[in-house]
Amino acid sequence: MGYRVHVTVNGTPREAEVEARLLLVHFIREVLGLTGTHIGCDTTNCGACTVLLDGRPVKSCTVFAVQADGRDLMTVEGLARDGELHPIQEGFHERHGLQCGFCTPGMMMTAYALLQRTPAPTEEEIRWAIAGNLCRCTGYVNIVEAIRYAAEKLRGAPVTTGRGS
Ligand code: FES
Ligand code: FES
Repeated sequence: MGYRVHVTVNGTPREAEVEARLLLVHFIREVLGLTGTHIGCDTTNCGACTVLLDGRPVKSCTVFAVQADGRDLMTVEGLARDGELHPIQEGFHERHGLQCGFCTPGMMMTAYALLQRTPAPTEEEIRWAIAGNLCRCTGYVNIVEAIRYAAEKLRGAPVTTGRGS
């Protein structure tokens, strides 16, 4: 039996009929066609599938699509506006916060949620926030620098010279 799911995705209402067992990450990628959300493990370890549900980061491989019914969903595709990179995306570019990029969408969504609630995070707060997001390539120094860059830009503060530049 199918269940009708209504969600607002990156500001746009969408609806679809899904099986009860469908995971949110598969709903996002295969039903909504938003493949920026990645699957790195399927076991709630890596955080590559992180999206925001009602503004809170969730690992979408651990949530059923039906649990998103009536809720607000934001994926990495929702960051850029009118062709302009979001400061978080700009930060990852400017501070070389990625290599293969597989973990990057999840890192960015976690960073977005952090900066919504903590506009001027300390390094410790940034590292704590991304503790559930694994990167197998870069180490975390440049990722932390990228998030710090975004925080400064979003606050209108002059962006400091990062270690990666
Ligand atoms: S794919 Fe969801 S945590 Fe790794
Ligand atoms: S950049 Fe490759 S896993 Fe993070």
